[in-house]
Amino acid sequence: MIELKNLTRKYGKKIAVNKLNMTMDKHRITMLIGPSGCGKTTTLKMINRLIESTEGDIIINGESIYNLDAVQLRRSIGYVIQEIGLFPHMNVFDNIAAVPRLLQWNEKKIKSRVEDLLDLVTLNTSYMYKYPLQLSGGESQRVGLARALAADPEILLMDEPFGAIDPINRAKLHESFMSIQEKIKKTIVFVTHDINEAIKLGDKIAILKNGDLIQHDNVNNILYEPENEFVEKLLGHDRNIKALVLKKNKDYIQRDGFLVVKRGEKPEKVLDLITAAGKKSALAVDSEGRFEGEFFTRISKHTKELRLEFNDEIVSLEKNGNLQETLSLMIETGESIMPVTSNKNNFEGIINLNDIFSELGSGEK
Ligand SMILES: Nc1ncnc2c1ncn2[C@@H]1O[C@H](COP(=O)(O)OP(=O)(O)OP(=O)(O)O)[C@@H](O)[C@H]1O
Ligand SMILES: [Mg+2]
Repeated sequence: MIELKNLTRKYGKKIAVNKLNMTMDKHRITMLIGPSGCGKTTTLKMINRLIESTEGDIIINGESIYNLDAVQLRRSIGYVIQEIGLFPHMNVFDNIAAVPRLLQWNEKKIKSRVEDLLDLVTLNTSYMYKYPLQLSGGESQRVGLARALAADPEILLMDEPFGAIDPINRAKLHESFMSIQEKIKKTIVFVTHDINEAIKLGDKIAILKNGDLIQHDNVNNILYEPENEFVEKLLGHDRNIKALVLKKNKDYIQRDGFLVVKRGEKPEKVLDLITAAGKKSALAVDSEGRFEGEFFTRISKHTKELRLEFNDEIVSLEKNGNLQETLSLMIETGESIMPVTSNKNNFEGIINLNDIFSELGSGEK
């Protein structure tokens, strides 16, 4: 737990951070967001004493950080930044090993730690001897994260770590970052400009403006009970759509009201089943319940008879995905009903666009 008490930083007359009072929960992610110059980086750097406060105190696990040695404190806190992240003249191994070496771990322990961390950030060991210039932006950020975690710090400070990454790789980094956090459960303070990133990754969001703390709350409360117009603007008009990111597909699966048949079933039988049910299509699974595609009926142009066809290119939704991704997929594909599968392509049910719309309309928590 990190407690900021009246934390203030002035530069001459300019107040960069003004009497911040807030508690950052243990093992949780607190997102700091606000316009450029509002004091996010200054706040972050006061936590590891890269910047000293002018007034106020920071208490970590009950102890003021000003009673600790600044260098030791810094080594005990992981820090990831957007630029100049890695030491360019050192390879990946030496970058990650930097803090453990300062802490004088033996080389054997360091090697196994580096291997574990590369595995954690999903880079294979062949990356160990590459230099930062040989890495993509996303790979550099993974190494940056591994380096920050090297000495297994309890606290991780991250200053716009994914800011320079393109949207697709950013989304991938988000996914792996969230699954890493699920495993390591660090106390993380994460600075961002991007409200979508804050909503997606944060347990709580702290909103700053001109050095003042405007609102600090869990993501739901921020979305549904914005403190004032400033927060509303930051969230944007589409905040109900943004909130869909918090809702998981698995909670909106319908398990009846549609037809499921075996892919290997005789076409005449499938046709009978579809017409008897008064439908135009049926979803198909294999003998082990894995999703295969969709049978649908069509009236033949020539014979005017009802014919059965099969579409094996149906996109399915991942059970653990969120409703925001689902909504964009539905818009992209033009489908208002989509099948949901779990990990091994097991068919789980369907999601109906109408249910997403009612979710949007309800504004419910
Ligand atoms: N060394 C300094 N001397 C004088 N003023 C400073 C100094 N460092 C920061 N400031 C001022 O303090 C305020 C807060 O800066 P800070 O870097 O914390 O902003 P930020 O929220 O991180 O912004 P950004 O989103 O652009 O990174 C700014 O107005 C900045 O100009
Ligand atoms: Mg900054």
